[in-house]
Amino acid sequence: MTTANQPNGASAANTSTQPVLALDKVSSFYGNIQALRNISLQVFPGEIVTLIGSNGAGKTTTLKTISGLIRPRTGTITLNGERIDGISPETVVARGISQSPEGRQIFPRMTVLENLEMGAFLRKDKAEIARDMESVFKLFPRLKERVKQRAGTMSGGEQQMLAMGRALMARPKVLLLDEPSMGLSPLLVETIFQIIININREGTTILLVEQNALAALSIANRGYVLQTGSIVLEDKGRNLLENENVRRTYLGETVGVE
Ligand SMILES: Nc1ncnc2c1ncn2[C@@H]1O[C@H](COP(=O)(O)OP(=O)(O)OP(=O)(O)O)[C@@H](O)[C@H]1O
Ligand SMILES: [Mg+2]
Repeated sequence: MTTANQPNGASAANTSTQPVLALDKVSSFYGNIQALRNISLQVFPGEIVTLIGSNGAGKTTTLKTISGLIRPRTGTITLNGERIDGISPETVVARGISQSPEGRQIFPRMTVLENLEMGAFLRKDKAEIARDMESVFKLFPRLKERVKQRAGTMSGGEQQMLAMGRALMARPKVLLLDEPSMGLSPLLVETIFQIIININREGTTILLVEQNALAALSIANRGYVLQTGSIVLEDKGRNLLENENVRRTYLGETVGVE
């Protein structure tokens, strides 16, 4: 397989095996309001899969449902073939799914180091935790420089790095990223996306939610398009990048008239 359009190395992903994460006909509600309608999606080992969609499409709801923060009303969610829907968020983390949430939600009064330690709060393997901390510092040298700094005093880009680093400290089988590029300058967006590629190269499978469809589809093996709670399109990242509807709706292109 060639990976010309996919710097993350699509060959690392293996779609012939069982998906590591699978949603099957999942519906979620806020009270009486249905936010997800029969969502089915799969993430295979080694992949970067992206979920794109406009404001309010249901991207965050999808991630929260996977994380156990919202219990789906119908459908199933499996991690390596085992059901995880209906279990507590802590158990979901322990089973191998961690999330860098929308808006980062780092602990502002804690230091960078304390935030990272919080990411490993369910783990007891001290030596391995220390090793993972070193890997996080390799991915994010900026965090190492600022290890004693209070997280709330860091820049938006640094806080994003911290949110991702904290999620990695759980040593996830699948890392969920909710809008990591939100509010960042174009240069920082590039940095963050390069880091996402690096995390994937180190062996972590990623489900990436983004409004920045261009950047997300450029690095993703596969993508799903979410529209008012339904998946309306699914394809390889590069095919979605070339899809006219996607270009018009999500890449801000006007077709034909000037
Ligand atoms: N706590 C809530 N209570 C009621 N409705 C909610 C709640 N959170 C989200 N919704 C609704 O659910 C739908 C999906 O929202 P969601 O936050 O998942 O969208 P999103 O794709 O993440 O959007 P954005 O790009 O703005 O982050 C929207 O119609 C939203 O108004
Ligand atoms: Mg959202």
